[in-house]
Amino acid sequence: MNEINYDADKLVELVRDKVRLDSWHRRSFYFSFAATWITGALWLIAQGLKDPDLGPVRTPWQTVVMRTHGAVALFFLILLGTLMTHVRRGWAMKANRRSGGCMIAVSAALILTAWMLYYLTADSWREWSSAVHWAVGLLALALIAIHVRTGGIARVDQQESK
Ligand code: HEM
Ligand code: HEM
Repeated sequence: MNEINYDADKLVELVRDKVRLDSWHRRSFYFSFAATWITGALWLIAQGLKDPDLGPVRTPWQTVVMRTHGAVALFFLILLGTLMTHVRRGWAMKANRRSGGCMIAVSAALILTAWMLYYLTADSWREWSSAVHWAVGLLALALIAIHVRTGGIARVDQQESK
């Protein structure tokens, strides 16, 4: 009986270990998210400093920043795709499900509003999707920090309760 419990513990430990990302994976994820976030924030700063008479017209600086944002966001999307195993294993372990679910919702909202920004031209839709996109984007930084922290705390709690 003890042997069966030992094997089950080992298995749980193995799956848990696989929820963690390898250091190259974690670094690539943080790097691509930081680049996406920073370019989004730079665009917002440029928007705040822009001459209001320009209306929806982008300044050359905003154009450069948005091109970079579009490029690094694609890289970030690749990294999100690579987290499929992380999500499935985390879900199976019932570990960090609440903040993990929020992470999925935030990613879906960013992708949907990014598509709207790129393809919908009607002013009212653009304004709406822009506001939702950047507000959720800015908030995503705090959510990721919470997700990583609560995931780490859950792991320590489980190890201590052994
Ligand atoms: C899944 C991640 C993301 C994707 C795929 C994405 C993609 C895009 C795309 C395609 C655009 C429109 C580009 C254009 O019109 O030329 C855009 C605009 C923008 N994004 Fe993101 N983005 C992501 C995350 C973020 C984050 C984290 C922020 C954080 C601040 C952000 C802030 C912005 C801003 C401020 C704009 C300009 C909005 C406007 O034109 O009114 N994005 N993004
Ligand atoms: C788009 C969705 C998600 C993203 C971007 C994401 C991202 C991350 C990142 C970057 C870490 C830190 C990894 C490390 O330090 O090795 C992490 C940790 C963690 N995540 Fe997620 N995650 C997502 C969804 C989920 C879901 C749905 C679950 C579970 C239901 C989950 C469970 C966990 C757990 C348990 C940890 C702590 C791992 C540990 O330190 O042992 N995640 N997540």
